[in-house]
This record gives sequence, C-alpha cells and structure tokens, in this order.
Amino acid sequence: MRVKDKSIIVTGSGGGIGEGIARRLAAEGARVIVNDINAELGEKVVAAIVKAGGTASFFAADVTQSDEVKALVDAAVQRYGRLDVMVSNAGWTHRNQPALEVSEDDFDKCYAINVKSIYLATIHTTPVFRSQGGGSFINIASTAGVRPRPGLTWYNGSKGAVITTSKSLAAELGPDNIRVNCVNPVFNPDTGLSAEFAGGPLDEDRKARFRASIPLGRFSTALDVANAVLYLASDEADFISGVCLEVDGARCV
Ligand SMILES: NC(=O)c1ccc[n+]([C@@H]2O[C@H](COP(=O)([O-])OP(=O)(O)OC[C@H]3O[C@@H](n4cnc5c(N)ncnc54)[C@H](O)[C@@H]3O)[C@@H](O)[C@H]2O)c1
Repeated sequence: MRVKDKSIIVTGSGGGIGEGIARRLAAEGARVIVNDINAELGEKVVAAIVKAGGTASFFAADVTQSDEVKALVDAAVQRYGRLDVMVSNAGWTHRNQPALEVSEDDFDKCYAINVKSIYLATIHTTPVFRSQGGGSFINIASTAGVRPRPGLTWYNGSKGAVITTSKSLAAELGPDNIRVNCVNPVFNPDTGLSAEFAGGPLDEDRKARFRASIPLGRFSTALDVANAVLYLASDEADFISGVCLEVDGARCV
C-alpha cells in the first residue's frame, strides 16, 4: 500500500482522469475525498471504491468558489483527521477553434476552472499543511502548457499558468515541507473533454493523425496519469518538488 491512510482530495473526480486517480489512490490505501460539481457521478465513484474495499466519501464543491473550496478542505480534515495531499484535477477547455473566436465568457470559465482553482486550493490548503508540518499539492496541467498547438490557445495558456505557478509555489512553500508538482497528460480520448479538444466528434481519421504525433504510438489513459499521481503522492517522492511530469509517450520531446 503506497499511500496507506493518507487523506487525499481529488477535485473533479466524478469522471474522466480524476476518477482514475481517485480509484488508484484508494486501491493503494488512501482515504479519498471525491469532489465534483456533479454529485450523481461523484457518488458513483465513491460506491465503486467502497465496493472494491477502499475508503472514500463524496463532497460537492465548485473549485472556482472560495467558500466551497474552504468547505471541501475542512471536510477532509473533519472526516479523516488531516489532509495529506490535494490533487487539483478539475479542468475545462473551450472548443478547439481560432483564438479570436473564443468568447469572453469561455475565456473566463477556462481561467476560473483551470487557474483560479489552483489559487483557491493553495489559499485554503496551505494553512492546514503548515499546521501539520507539511503536505503535497499535485496539479493536473497538460502537455498543452508545454507544447502549445493552434486551436486551444487560451486553454494552453491556462495550463502554462498552472505549470509556472506550481514551480513558483514549490520554491516558496518548500521551507514549510510542502511539495508542489504537476502531471502533464497528453490527449485521452475517453474523457468528457476529448471532443472539445479535438474540435468535433472524434473520427478515426482525426485520432490517427493525433496518435501519429506520439512516439509511443498510443493516447494516454486515466491509469497512466493515476500512476504518476500515485508516485508523487507517496513518500517515495519525498524529495521531488517543482517537477512537471509529462505522461505523454514522448509527445513533448
Ligand atoms: N482529457 C485529456 O485529453 C486531457 C489531456 C491533458 C490534460 N487534461 C486535464 O485533465 C484534467 C481532467 O480532465 P478530464 O479530461 O478527465 O475531464 P472530464 O470533463 O472528463 O472530467 C472533469 C470533471 O471535473 C468536473 N468539474 C468541472 N468543473 C468543475 C468545477 N468547477 N468544480 C468541481 N468539479 C468540476 C466535471 O464535472 C468532471 O467530472 C483537466 O484538468 C484537464 O485539463 C485532460
């Protein structure tokens, strides 16, 4: 059990990559708070974890709202007595389209869910980590923040902000024994956001062209990302901070 008894929040874990992270961490002994805005999806993930013998409970919160993020952090401390790891996974993208056609509302939504969420998670979690003598932030960014491509410009920029912010926080919070790392997945076709990333239904032709840009010859899975998060959450990564780990089959090389 690589994260036995650690208390871990995974935001946006009612589906997609977050669900994979929550399940994997629970399978390795973590006590997981499954967070999402969609309670029905979140409760289903909790039920699956509990059925498999793990420990999890759901907490509804919108990661863009300060009072809700504070309540989420408080809930983890109340339920599990402490908080060891905050995984900020909830994210959103505007549709793949020319930068000048993305609406102001979609820009604001993208930055609220992808970037402001990191600010709020940091503000509300850091005091808890400090009072416990340390903790670990893991932020799910994207290869989009490292190797931006046309069509997702504002999303790419939001993930670049997540990466730079995480590195800055690693430097600033290190003296408090707080680690801050990112995981950067490449495209995963089995998620809610995949058609938005692709700019339309994912036909075989589109998939084949995208796949050809990944040297290992396949897309990422939620399990690939979850395994990277598991390592960063575990004590094996005790001296790893300020790292942004690509889970991308060498796409970013
Ligand atoms: N899917 C990919 O190809 C891919 C690639 C690289 C990075 N990512 C990143 O991985 C993360 C997860 O993406 P995914 O593809 O699994 O997406 P998804 O849409 O499948 O799942 C995201 C989950 O977040 C929840 N959510 C949305 N807004 C929220 C909010 N304000 N507060 C709380 N929960 C909220 C949704 O209800 C959903 O359950 C995101 O940060 C995304 O940018 C995804």
